[in-house]
This record gives sequence, C-alpha cells and structure tokens, in this order.
Amino acid sequence: MVGASVSVADMSIYTHTGGQLDRLCRAVGFDPAERRHLDLLRRLLGPAGEMSISEPPPVASNVADDTSPIEFSLAMDQRGECVVRLLGEAIGSTGPRDFLDQVAAEYGLVTDRLDAVADLFLPHEERQGPFTLWYSLIFRPGRTPRIKVYLNPQISGPAMADSLVSEGFRRLGIDRAFEAVIEHGLRRGERDNFAFFALDLDDDPLSRVKVYIAHDAAESEDVERAAELVAGTDPAVIREFLAVLGGRKGPFDGRPLVSSYSFVEGSGAKPGNYSLYLPIRSYVPDDAVARARVQAMLAQLDFDGNILDNALGAITQRPLRDGVGLLAHVSLKMGEFGSGISVYLSSEAYQVLPPRQRPILGVPS
Ligand code: TRP
Repeated sequence: MVGASVSVADMSIYTHTGGQLDRLCRAVGFDPAERRHLDLLRRLLGPAGEMSISEPPPVASNVADDTSPIEFSLAMDQRGECVVRLLGEAIGSTGPRDFLDQVAAEYGLVTDRLDAVADLFLPHEERQGPFTLWYSLIFRPGRTPRIKVYLNPQISGPAMADSLVSEGFRRLGIDRAFEAVIEHGLRRGERDNFAFFALDLDDDPLSRVKVYIAHDAAESEDVERAAELVAGTDPAVIREFLAVLGGRKGPFDGRPLVSSYSFVEGSGAKPGNYSLYLPIRSYVPDDAVARARVQAMLAQLDFDGNILDNALGAITQRPLRDGVGLLAHVSLKMGEFGSGISVYLSSEAYQVLPPRQRPILGVPS
C-alpha cells in the first residue's frame, strides 16, 4: 500500500496534542523553526505520551472532561497580543515535581516560592481532591517559554483549605491580603471554596501568586462583589460578559463560576488583577453556539475574532455542532494592568462529548 497514513485512533497522546499545539502556535504567528513548545510538551507527558489515544490513559486526569491531561488556552488582550498556554498534568511521572527538576535549569525556572509552600500543598500524607500538581506552559512568539504551577488547596481535605491558603500567603509575604480575599470572595459559606493556588516560576518583578475560588450556583452579583476588591474592575462589564456568554443572569448552577485574584509579591493588601472564569460548556447546547457567543463578546470589546476561528481550526476539523466542550471556559481579566479575554480549548484526545438538544423555537400558530 502506498502512502498509508496513520489513522487518528493510532496516534499517540503526544502526536495528537503536539500537532494541536504546533498548529495553534503557528496560527498566532510563531516562527515555524521554534521547537521549544513541543520539547516541553514531550517532556511533560514523558513516556506515557507515547501511548495510543485508542487505549485508556494511564491516569484519568481532571484537566479536561474527557480525561485528557492537556487543555489549551489562547489569551488575547486589548493590544492584540496573543499568548498560547497549555495546562497539563504530568501523567507518567513518579513524583509530581519530576518534570520541573528536568527542565528547571534549561528554562531558568525560579522555584523559591514553590519551595516555600511545598510542604503545605505537596504533603507526604494521603492526598485528596481532583489533582496534586498541574503545570501551565506559557508561550509567546519569540520568547522563552514560561512555566507556572497550580497547587490544590483541597489537598488535605476541605476543612484545611482556608488555613493552607492563609499560611501560603504568609510565607509569600502577602498575608495582609488574606482577610480581604475572604471578605470579598468567600462570602457564601460552603458554596465558595478555594480551588487553585498558582505560582509563576520566575523572578520577573511582575511574577505572580494567584488564588482561585469556585462559586457554586452563583449569581452575577456574587462575582461582581468578588471583583470589587480589585481596582479597575467594572461590574457592568462582568454582567455583560455573563449575559452574552452564559446566556443568563444566573444562577450559574452548572459547573461553577471561578474567581481569581492575582498578587505581585510584596503587593500589600490588594490584588492587582481579578479574573472571572465561565465554564461555558455547561451553559450551551453545542460548540457552534459557544463560538458564536465568544465572537459576539470579542466584537463588542473590539478584539480580532479571526484569531479565535484560526485557533479552533488548529485544534479540530469536526463540525462545531457535533459536540460540546471544545470551548471549555472563557475568562475575563480586569485590573490595573488592562483587560483581556482567554478561551480554553479542549484537546478532545479521548472523546468528543455529545451536544445537548438545542431549544426548539415555538412556531406561532
Ligand atoms: N477541568 C477542570 C474544571 O473545569 C479544571 C480546569 C481546567 C479549570 N481549566 C480550567 C478550572 C480553567 C477553571 C478554569 O474545573
């Protein structure tokens, strides 16, 4: 047989997600000679990356709904600058920090802050919750990739989450901010919970500590209030974002809305940025509807919508109506350093989730 091609089902996890990542980077203007994004992905997945996507994955990751260990995102800002990011779990490694140890020297990572809180969030005792350590790989055209880690405040159970975050803040020199975060972001008892604690692994003066809060069954007002803590946020923009993308005012009783506050070390009592994450896949029948809503939002903010379509084309060729969850989340960032929109895209390596029924419009009689 001449020109036999590898069928999709025979692809390895690395081939599948690496192809998507490479096309995504090219779609936003990376030099085709650049290889570092693929090198980092290959090392993150490790030997497990060679497994075929037709076999069940070695670890059923919570990074994405279909158990894929990888999720992509595209961050767009007002200046038209675009950043490609990849959220990933090192599914094949023996220790959660193996990947870091492998790449730290080569990529100039600064792990001081991770080291300062590691005993809190990476305990030796039994772990709980959906994950232990996730990585974000951050790619900008022509720049050295950056790496961020996500730790799990629920790792020692829900009762310990607030004290882990509080102690984490103290060790990182932002303890004065903790009370304000509780007052604005965790007002609704058991329905508001710390979900992620993230650290940039570099020593850029603007490198950040970021804390994320999941709001179960929240209304728009709840996240508007969470945003009030940060200068430069606008409740009207939040309402608009949720109405356009979520198609409702509330309650958001599917997957939870998430807030994040981002701090620069030594920034005192106030975070510099607030982001709101909408898990859009819970609030649309299919990805064609999700895309149309994101396009409407981008147009309203005067962002370039072609970038989104190019990104979607880099990830999949399937008709958008045939599934839901390719567009997993959309986030809105606001604060002193300007605003932006990010779209989180699933790799769908293992499964395309079936669309929900679209509402049928009544025919007037
Ligand atoms: N899949 C998980 C979730 O939806 C974790 C996750 C991946 C996530 N990307 C995210 C959570 C972006 C918030 C925002 O909860």
